[in-house]
Amino acid sequence: MKRIVILASGSGSNAENIITHFSSNPEVEIVAVLTNRKDAKVLERCARLEVPALYFNKKAFSGSDVLLRLLKGLTPDLIVLAGFLWKIPSHLIQAFPNKIINIHPALLPKYGGKGMYGDHVHRAVKDNSESETGITIHYVNKNYDEGAIIHQAKTSITPNDTVGNIAQKVHQLEYEHFPKVIEKIVLEHGKES
Ligand code: GAR
Repeated sequence: MKRIVILASGSGSNAENIITHFSSNPEVEIVAVLTNRKDAKVLERCARLEVPALYFNKKAFSGSDVLLRLLKGLTPDLIVLAGFLWKIPSHLIQAFPNKIINIHPALLPKYGGKGMYGDHVHRAVKDNSESETGITIHYVNKNYDEGAIIHQAKTSITPNDTVGNIAQKVHQLEYEHFPKVIEKIVLEHGKES
């Protein structure tokens, strides 16, 4: 059984999509969803989906080893950032080498870095009159949005697309690709060990 932990900060529609995707797969378990926001909608989703969910604060995350110990105890094969907005501290990256992945709502290296999340990304894409955007799934390293790229997918956009339309198109790509890429990674890791 492969064990996945999801970190999410907000709505959690990707978290829900991943949970639903793996609910019928006996080889993969979503063991927990962890969030840094007490009011994150992802907590409601987890309650409904009957997946354990926990809130942690900044001190537990980066000011102590509380989250590190919690994560180690969960023995994850993969830690998935699904709309998680804090930078991962280096002690967590070192503890889980090549085991933390992130999804970014643009075609990195464009539109990455600090402050580039959610609609801020889509607004920048629109302001630059891009004709396409997309998603990037990548390993997490100590710099925002700079780890090795695992998978990208594109969608075209027109000048008529609003920020909302762009967000919708990108979310569709995320729902389609993210669970499949996660599945591939955890099952391939399984073959190595
Ligand atoms: C997703 O579009 C994800 O790519 C983005 O936040 C959204 C979360 O949506 N992540 C980032 O911007 C990270 N820099 P969700 O909470 O509905 O899954």
